[in-house]
Amino acid sequence: MLTRSKEVLDILPSVINAENFDFVIHGGDIVCGGSSFNIPNNIYTRSLKEAAATFDQINTPFFSVPGNHDCDPNSWTYDEYGEYFNVHSPITIIDVAPKLRLALANIFFNVDVKQNGSGVWTEEMDKSLRETASQSLQEHTAIILILHSWVIPGEDGNNGLISNAQELLQTIDECPSISIVFTGHRHMNRISEYNDCLIINTACLIGFPLGYREVILSESGNFTTRFHRLKLPELIEDSRNRSTDIENRLWEGTIYDREKQSIISRLHNVWSKKK
Ligand SMILES: [Fe+2]
Repeated sequence: MLTRSKEVLDILPSVINAENFDFVIHGGDIVCGGSSFNIPNNIYTRSLKEAAATFDQINTPFFSVPGNHDCDPNSWTYDEYGEYFNVHSPITIIDVAPKLRLALANIFFNVDVKQNGSGVWTEEMDKSLRETASQSLQEHTAIILILHSWVIPGEDGNNGLISNAQELLQTIDECPSISIVFTGHRHMNRISEYNDCLIINTACLIGFPLGYREVILSESGNFTTRFHRLKLPELIEDSRNRSTDIENRLWEGTIYDREKQSIISRLHNVWSKKK
């Protein structure tokens, strides 16, 4: 399906711009470098340019974290990707809205992606996130952590799990300002919870079920999400036909993985100034 990604890129800006979002996050694997697809370097370079040009047309703040397939297919470095997308520090902190802070984690920073395709949660990142989380709690500001890989051990045979997941979970456990974690990498819709923090994976944009996740947060700590399929029925059917029904159900997730409405108690507590 990667050879048909331009069909997705062509409609994406108008679809996203029509939503009037406050900001947009991409969870990584914007292109298909690394080893899996054996793409030549000139195709990798062209893909980066086309993807960057597409996301430049989104007229709301756009943020991304690197994925394992965003590296160069031959050198396995993120140098060229870094000319277009943020890759330059382990954690980038952005105040994205009043009382809301993004922590964008690059889990491939100084990591051999060839050996660690699901990334590593390093001590440096952990220290940085803990400092930010502590300060954020004082400021009654909630943190949304974004990283490419999954963070809860023991699910689906640990497929797509970040290295040192247990350390990250302990930090989430001890830092109540971290209210939501968004991940990518596994191409499936999944909503889990860890000690009142929502851990959310979102399915693929260029493979079944081809869509994106809308999230609405209210001042009371109410969280609403819905997965939207792109209006590309022929492409969705072509993609569906490449996998088994069991696999497709896994990518799509249950209705509870696509849609949810609830109070996030961490969000409610941080914003209502309880400690
Ligand atoms: Fe990935």
